[in-house]
Amino acid sequence: MATPSPEDLLREGRAAVEAAATSAELDDARVAVIGRSAPVVLALRGVGGLPPEERGPTGQRLNGVRRELEALIDERSAALAAEELEARLAADRVDVTLPPPVVPHGGLHPLTQTRREIEDIFIGLGYAIAEGPEIDTEYNSFTALNIPEGHPAKDETDTLWLRPGVLLRPHTSPVQVRVMASQPPPVYVICPGRVFRRDTPDATHSPIFQQIEGLAVDRGLTLADLKGTLRHMARALFGDRLDVRLRSGFFPFTEPSVEVDVECPFCATGCSVCKHTRWIEILGSGMVDPNVLSLHEGYDPEEWTGFAFGLGIERIAMLRHDVHDIRAFYDNDLRFLEQFPS
Ligand code: DAH
Repeated sequence: MATPSPEDLLREGRAAVEAAATSAELDDARVAVIGRSAPVVLALRGVGGLPPEERGPTGQRLNGVRRELEALIDERSAALAAEELEARLAADRVDVTLPPPVVPHGGLHPLTQTRREIEDIFIGLGYAIAEGPEIDTEYNSFTALNIPEGHPAKDETDTLWLRPGVLLRPHTSPVQVRVMASQPPPVYVICPGRVFRRDTPDATHSPIFQQIEGLAVDRGLTLADLKGTLRHMARALFGDRLDVRLRSGFFPFTEPSVEVDVECPFCATGCSVCKHTRWIEILGSGMVDPNVLSLHEGYDPEEWTGFAFGLGIERIAMLRHDVHDIRAFYDNDLRFLEQFPS
């Protein structure tokens, strides 16, 4: 087989370089055209075996071919890089005149919405918001609330004790105690927060839920103030013309204690929500027991009286939105949550 002439080598090499359509293909062509076993390189290596008079001119021509091929490759490489950059920029181009992609909006959890609504109602009445820790002492949670030794709420089966004397608060009432320990009367506060009980979850129970505590202490407060305040809240939450009623109840920290019912907002004659009674219980309340006031400096029960109340945020939200299973609030199922746009 005749050895290819330098002209053939140049032609074939140029064809291979020109055929490369991408930088990657050009890399392959570079190896084939001027790599270690490329024809021109092999031919150069064979120059030493030529008759002495041919070595000089053949070597020069072959070297010339190799340099020319190198230059062609460099040129093609620059051209391809430019083309590819162009293509990448075109693909990456952002059209700022297009409408933006739709980013779904987050929203407030229905319990957060309900809590904030209740907070707003009381802020409108001049109340401040007070918060307390979720881990509290037996003293703040029970003793200072007039809850006697041996009360069932203190039992292991109801309350989550962390160690003797320290517990996950089972209600927000200890925040009342903290507020009175830290400031003189008059006091108008509400205390929202999480509470913990040793309950098995079902449609109406959850071991963690949220309450709002209320405490008002001033000169001359009576049950009428309590009723007027809670009626204002109930109307703001459930409907303008609804009435509230007080039923006698019992809490160790209030005397007298009352259960507060609101007229059923859903029916005129009785329905399943009000269990055909036309009234729905919404919270516990009462006049602060003098024993609770007198534990705090400056709270002489002869001079100051007060009322307190505690409500479950979940319960209010369930009533307002006709939710039948408390667990729906904690499942984080968007199909549920999206029904409460905020
Ligand atoms: N602490 C009570 C509970 O968890 C709720 C409560 C009732 C709070 C009456 C009060 C109150 O401040 O006066 O069931």
